[in-house]
Formats: sequence, structure tokens, C-alpha cells
Amino acid sequence: MTDKLILAALSGRPLPRPPIWLMRQAGRYLPEYRAVRTDAGSFLDLCYNSEKATEVTLQPIRRFGLDAAILFADILLIPHALGMDVRFAEGEGPVMTPLRSGADLTRLDGSDIHRTLSPVYETVRRVKAALPASVALIGFCGAPWTVASYMVEGRGKSDFYELKKFAYTEPQAFQSLLRLIAEASVAYLSRQVDAGAEVVQIFESWAGAVPAGLLESCSIDPLRYLVGAFKKRHPDVPVIIFPRGTPNLDHYLGLMTEGVGLDESFAPGKRHLYDDGRICFQGHLDPALLKVGGAPMEEGARRLLDVHFRHEPERFIFNLGHGVMQHTPPEHVARLVEIVKGYRP
Ligand code: CP3
Repeated sequence: MTDKLILAALSGRPLPRPPIWLMRQAGRYLPEYRAVRTDAGSFLDLCYNSEKATEVTLQPIRRFGLDAAILFADILLIPHALGMDVRFAEGEGPVMTPLRSGADLTRLDGSDIHRTLSPVYETVRRVKAALPASVALIGFCGAPWTVASYMVEGRGKSDFYELKKFAYTEPQAFQSLLRLIAEASVAYLSRQVDAGAEVVQIFESWAGAVPAGLLESCSIDPLRYLVGAFKKRHPDVPVIIFPRGTPNLDHYLGLMTEGVGLDESFAPGKRHLYDDGRICFQGHLDPALLKVGGAPMEEGARRLLDVHFRHEPERFIFNLGHGVMQHTPPEHVARLVEIVKGYRP
């Protein structure tokens, strides 16, 4: 059996070197991505085109030799599969007709999500068949709070007022929405695993926007439900949770099973406060440093490696604190991969 470094890291086995993959490693900063994207039509057309989605999933693996591929798809495919009119407007990000009350939930239908999502599972099968034996395949979904934020706000950039108002004024209907998203997400992740995904990551990208009064009921509990239901079906598939920007990491650690994704605001020196000897830490170079490149990037990367990897060459996966930024020079990524792969404790 080949030991994939990502899987070794997540199960706490010793590592010969730190493994690396990057959030949004497939994307507009790559000219070969832009070429396929132009051909594909809309962003959703690309997500549902198994052949093209396979190609863009593999592009960063071929170019940089990363240790994991992440399925090319989007967290907003779940709202789309539930019946929302998701579209990606040029320069504006995602847009959809928002859900503003319990009455609006009748527009959603969770009975047949796989009809919409089946091309995604085909992408997973194709990627799995094409990947080198040493490279792990990561599936993913959004966490209920984060996915709900787009469904209620109706757009990407927001102050979350509508989301919070829904949660505060109609708590039961809001819980129904979170539960519907969680159930769809379990079914979706489960099919990704059946098709070949070996790890799953759950993006709580707006963890930093959860008010303390809603933390347990609207972020932690729905995630606990999602992870619990997923683990019941797939006890051996490692789960990484990425609660971006949260000042309450301790609340999330209780429901973490194998991995936690850290963002660039996390001070590496604080690792020992959260390290229970069990969880694998993933992250958390500032994506701006990757775009800057040169000595600042190299120093930043080495600092993380020194803290997370030198003293204990296990339970660490190098990544960014968030996705690769637009206009990041691909050569900077190549250099970062060289530094991480060349690092020895
Ligand atoms: O390489 C990969 O990481 C795999 C594919 C992937 C995409 N989105 C492709 C994408 C993954 C894992 C995601 C996750 C995702 N999608 C998240 C969680 C991670 C995060 O960024 O916090 C979120 C919040 C979304 C929702 C989303 N998708 C937004 C807000 C946007 C618009 C902003 C932007 O960067 O354009 C997208 C679009 C999107 N998803 C693009 C890509 C490559 C760019 C769209 C394009 O090519 O036109």
C-alpha cells in the first residue's frame, strides 16, 4: 500500500516531510484554468462538466506536484441542488434570490439532489482514476451556517444582517434550514466518498461572523450533526473542519475528528494551547505572502514549518490560511512547494 502523506498526517503517523496542498489551488491565477473556464461557459457549467472539471482539478497537480487534489466544485452546488437559482455574476461573485423567512423555505426541495449533483460524482471517479498513487483526493462541502449565509443574503459580500435577523426572529425555521443543508451535505459527501474521495473538508468560511449568542446553535451543533452522520457512514474517512476566522477555536475542537484548518490570523505559537495530541493541524500561510513571493514568503513558510513540524514531524499539513488569491504568480506556488517538500525536521 502506498502511504499517501496527507492520510498519514491525518492519522498521526510520522512524516518524512511535510505534505502540502492549497485551498483554491485550481483557479483563475492559472492560465490553463482560464482557458478551460472560457471554453466551459458559466462557472456552474464548468462545475457540472465532468470532463472539464476533471481537467481543472488535475492542472495544479501536474504543474506543482501537490500532495492532494481537491475536487473542482463549489459549496454553492448544494443550494443549487436544493432548487435555488444560483449564478455567478462576473466580478460580483455568487448571486441568488434570497430566502428571507420561514415561508420562503417552501421553495427548497431536498428530495432529489443527486439528479443535479451526479456529474460531480462522475468528476470524482475520473479524477481518482487519473491521480498518481501518492496523491490523495479531497472532497468537500460548506458548513450549514456558511452555506445558509449565501442562501439568506443572496450574495457573496454582505454584512450578514439578513442572516442574523432570520436566525434571531425565526429560530425554528432557521434551524430547519440548517438541518436541510446538513442532511443534503451528508448525502453529498457520502456520494463523493463512494466515488473515490479519501478525505473530506468542511468549509465554515464564515465562522468569524457567527455572533457568540448563535455559536452553539447555528454553527457548532449543525456541524456536530453533519460530522456525526457522515462518520456513521464512513468512520474511516478523515474529516478536516475549517472554521475560518473564529476567535472560538476551542468550541470547535470538541467536534473535530481528524483535522483542523487554521487561517492566517492564528498565531503559530498558540498551537500548544489547542494541541491535544490527536488533531492534525492544517494551514496557515497568509495567501497575501504567496502572492508577494520572494524572501517574505520564504521566511513566512519556514516560520510555520519550524513551529508545526520541526519539533514534531507529524500531524501537520501545509496549506494557506485561505484560498490562493487572484493574480498570484504561479512561479510563487512552485517555489513554495519546493520549500515545503525540501524541509527536513
Ligand atoms: O481548487 C479548489 O479549491 C477547488 C474548488 C473550490 C472552489 N470553491 C472553486 C471556485 C472550492 C473548494 C471552493 C469552496 C468555496 N466556494 C468556498 C469555501 C472556501 C472559501 O473561499 O472560503 C466558498 C465560500 C465558495 C463560494 C464562492 N465560490 C464564492 C464566494 C465565489 C466568488 C469569489 C471568487 O473567488 O470568485 C466562488 C467562485 C469560485 N469557486 C471560483 C472558483 C475557482 C472562481 C469563479 C470563476 O472561475 O469564475
